[in-house]
Amino acid sequence: LPAGSVALGGGPGRASGVPVSVADLRGSGPPAPGGTVRRQVLTARKATVRLASGRVIEAWTFDGEVPGPAITATAGDLVEVRLRNADVDDGVTLHWHGYDVPCGEDGVPGVTQPAVRPGEEFVYRFRAGQVGTYWYHTHHASHVGVRKGLYGTLVVRPRDGRRADGSVAAEQVDLTLPVHTFDGAVVIAGRDGRTAHPAPPGVPVRLRLVNTDSDPHRIVLAGTPFRVAAVDGRDLNQPGEVSGVALHLPAGGRHDLVFPMPDTPVTLVVDDDRDGGLRLHPPGDARAGARVGDTSGLPELDLLGYGTPAAVPFGLRSAVDRHFTMVLDRAVAMVDGRPAYAQTVNGRGHPAIPDQLVARGDVVRFTVVNRSLETHPWHLHGHPVLILSRDGTPSTGSPLWMDTFDVRPGETWEVAFRATNPGIWMNHCHNLPHAHQGMMLRLRYD
Ligand code: C2O
Ligand code: CU
Repeated sequence: LPAGSVALGGGPGRASGVPVSVADLRGSGPPAPGGTVRRQVLTARKATVRLASGRVIEAWTFDGEVPGPAITATAGDLVEVRLRNADVDDGVTLHWHGYDVPCGEDGVPGVTQPAVRPGEEFVYRFRAGQVGTYWYHTHHASHVGVRKGLYGTLVVRPRDGRRADGSVAAEQVDLTLPVHTFDGAVVIAGRDGRTAHPAPPGVPVRLRLVNTDSDPHRIVLAGTPFRVAAVDGRDLNQPGEVSGVALHLPAGGRHDLVFPMPDTPVTLVVDDDRDGGLRLHPPGDARAGARVGDTSGLPELDLLGYGTPAAVPFGLRSAVDRHFTMVLDRAVAMVDGRPAYAQTVNGRGHPAIPDQLVARGDVVRFTVVNRSLETHPWHLHGHPVLILSRDGTPSTGSPLWMDTFDVRPGETWEVAFRATNPGIWMNHCHNLPHAHQGMMLRLRYD
């Protein structure tokens, strides 16, 4: 096998001896009719970045910016991103978090490609088939690289009603808001402290929240009722209006909040910090008013009961073809020849955790049990999972598709997905230090 490629094992019914290289599972072909090719170059480099507050951080960046340049496309476009590495010695890749790209575009070093070293480049190509809010980040030593700034957002808008360049109509406010912590302080879309944005009364507003940290954030939208229109890029079915609730946004997760702009200010409060966050205000009315009360007592919205049930595209009771149980814990294991704490799945740490083998077309069910005292944001590459239940209580609202779901201490989650995107897929905790400490395995099929 050529370097950097990995043989897929012969699945059931597959003649062995004909290795399929994951690196060959590439995105190709033209855009859909009416779509365009969206070419972008991203250069990874170290940079000193001055935040809005004047605070200076030493970051690892794409194009000198934190977050990296926003990538936007319209459904059906072909996204082509040329990644270059200027001076990030460790190497870098691009992983399209939540986007179901062909496996060879997935950006996992040592699995789908070699890491891109200084002076090298790699070109990613994929059809923008899913509408919604996603993000990209390096997947090489990501517990360091993402924290230092190697991430950005990916937003794909529907083709109807959009301008040809993919931008939003002027009579809307559509903000993509990656939330990231630098040196202990929260930064929203590259701006720290309290920032303000004008929004005319009556216009539809969409706030696309993206948690690029390794810990969850608690989000409160004060000053208006709103709907959670989408979770992890996928629209919810008939989400109802809510107010006076907090949202729990897992590491890696995204929530799209929508509401018509009222004629008074609206404030997005992160982690109950009333001095930070984002304020929307009627144009010309940037007054500091609309004080936000104490948000720390607000109850959390439970997404497992939110929205309206609808049919899902596979039969769960009749056809669960594979079932894996993953027990998450922390244990002492030998790491580099010394005993150290490891984050474990079924008592083992990566790379000693056996691969999960499935067959194309299977409905696969995961039971994820958290026996540890920490929250584990579970993330499967290449497929959204349908949330079935938490602690035995079924999900009763809208079908809830997530690519990163928080399994809190003591909880058990059941999820399912359809294996329709062959390759080798990482299945891991998105608390990136946990993944680095062993909480990561691979699922594969051809
Ligand atoms: Cu967002 Cu394997 O990662
Ligand atoms: Cu974890």
